[in-house]
Amino acid sequence: MAGILALEKCFGSKNEQEKEEDSKMYKRYREIVSSLPSNDYWGDTMRLYKGFWQMGYLVPGIMAFEDNFKARETDIILTTLPKAGTTWTKALTFAILTRDVNHPSSPTHPLLFFNPHSCVQNLEYLYMGRENTMPDLDMLNESPRLFAGHIPYSLLPASVLKSGTKIINISRNRKSTFVSFWKFGNLINPDKLLDLEKSVDIFASGISFCGPEWNFQAEFTNAASTNSNLLLLSYEEMLEKPVENVKKLAEFMGCGFTDDEEKQGIVDEIVKLCSFDNLKNQQVNKNGSSYNSKIDNKHFFRKGEVRDWANYLTPEMIKKLETAGKINESE
Ligand code: A3P
Repeated sequence: MAGILALEKCFGSKNEQEKEEDSKMYKRYREIVSSLPSNDYWGDTMRLYKGFWQMGYLVPGIMAFEDNFKARETDIILTTLPKAGTTWTKALTFAILTRDVNHPSSPTHPLLFFNPHSCVQNLEYLYMGRENTMPDLDMLNESPRLFAGHIPYSLLPASVLKSGTKIINISRNRKSTFVSFWKFGNLINPDKLLDLEKSVDIFASGISFCGPEWNFQAEFTNAASTNSNLLLLSYEEMLEKPVENVKKLAEFMGCGFTDDEEKQGIVDEIVKLCSFDNLKNQQVNKNGSSYNSKIDNKHFFRKGEVRDWANYLTPEMIKKLETAGKINESE
C-alpha cells in the first residue's frame, strides 16, 4: 500500500558521478527552456512546451520526468488541470489506498495532520530535483506508488502507457476552473493582482497553467476511448455523488471495497474525512503551507461549489470562455 512517500531515500542514493550527470542534464534542459516561446503570467514566466503552457521553472522537471521515469504496472498517476479538484482527489485516493493502515475515522489519520499535497507528490515537482540532483523513484518500495501532477496526456512517458500504469483525470467546468485559478492566482500573488477581464482574455487565448485548457481535456477524453487504464471523473459528479465516485475510484485502483467494509460504513467515512469542510478546518490546512512553503494551504480550499463562476463572470466573459478553442465553422 502507498504511504507518505519516503522521499529522502530517493534523493540520497546518488554517488558524485551520478550527481554530476544529473547536473549536466538539468543545465541542458534549462538551455532548451530558455529558447521556448514565453509569456508573462502573474509576474512569472510561462513557457510553451510541446503545445502546452507551463510555468517555466517546472519545465525542466517535466523533461526529466519524461526522460527518466520508469513506470510500473502497479503505479497510479493522478493528472489534472490545476483547480479541477486535485487536492480533493489526492486526499480521496490516498485515503482509499491506505485505509488498511489508516482507518478513515482514526483521530491520527495523516490527512488530519498533512495537507493532501504532502501525501501525494506531483511528479514534475519531484523531478525538478534538489540542488540539481534528480530523485531515484525506483527506491520506492510501496506498491502501488501513488503520484500526481499537472501533466498533459501526450507528455506522459511511453513507459507509463506501455506498462499499464493506471491514470486518473478529473475534469471540471471550464468557467469554474478559470474562476478558481483567477482567485487562487491573486491570493498567492497579492503584489501582482490580475484584473478579471484581462485574465479571461489571456485564458481564452489558450494561455493558462497547462493550457490551452481545451486541448488538455480533449487529450484525456480522446485517450479514454482506447486506454482502459485511464479513468475520467468529473468534479461536479464527484460533488453530486461522492459515494458512487469513491467506489469507482477504489475499483479502478484495484482495491474495491468489500461487502463488510461497505456495511461498516468505510466509504461514507472516507467521503466525510475528505470533505471540503473537514479538510479546510484542519489546523494544517488553516495555517500550514506546501510547495517549499510557497503556497499557504488555506488557498487550496476556497468554496468547493459548482456554480461560483456565476458570481463573477459577465455574459460577455462567459461567451469568451465558452467559445474559446472552438473553430469557427465558417472559416
Ligand atoms: P474553488 O476555488 O472553486 O472553491 P485544485 O485542488 O485542483 O487546486 O482545485 C481547487 C478547487 O477544489 C477549489 O475550488 C477548492 O475549493 C476545491 N476543493 C478543495 N478541496 C475540496 C474538497 N475536499 N471537496 C471539494 N472541493 C474541494
